[in-house]
Amino acid sequence: MAINTDTVLVSHEEIEQMLDRLSAELNRDYSGQPLVVVGILTGAFIFTADLVRRLEMPVIVDFMQVSSYVGEFSTGELKIKKDLSYDIEDKNVLIVEDIIDTGRTLALLKQQLLSRNPRSLKICTAFDKPSRRVNDLVPDYNGITVPDEFIVGYGLDLDGMYRDFDDIRIVRKE
Ligand code: IMP
Ligand code: MG
Repeated sequence: MAINTDTVLVSHEEIEQMLDRLSAELNRDYSGQPLVVVGILTGAFIFTADLVRRLEMPVIVDFMQVSSYVGEFSTGELKIKKDLSYDIEDKNVLIVEDIIDTGRTLALLKQQLLSRNPRSLKICTAFDKPSRRVNDLVPDYNGITVPDEFIVGYGLDLDGMYRDFDDIRIVRKE
């Protein structure tokens, strides 16, 4: 089976415009207040790097690596592979994610971070696939809404590959 990534869904220019729009919204909403940016590894490493360089308030950049498991009798459990290096109590915190799919991971992560008593907690995602959602999670900041396709590039991977593409492509298995 061959993997075809020829179909561009979002161009690099559209990604740049999305970054300009999101950073303008964030700069307006936080207006100079310090922000702890929590990038979710690995997928959000490029988006986080691009976004923070457009932010005008003082930022602390931190990363977490998490995954979620759906057990037979539970709605899901959060596995933390890498935790934050900073205390977020009483801080304005922005979770930066590559894509929201079912919403399971972020719903659990949100609960986990809220238990640490931040002053505020918001979610910013580069891409959103709302058709796949299993809960009521809505990002506070959304870059581009995408259809129910498996996409790669701009940090998003298929088995660790294609993260380096500077645009977003649809994966077709043929
Ligand atoms: P969920 O929202 O808990 O279902 O998980 C979202 C995570 O699944 C994202 O952070 C990505 O790592 C991964 N993911 C979901 N959809 C895609 C896709 O189309 N391409 C690459 N990764 C995806
Ligand atoms: Mg991810």
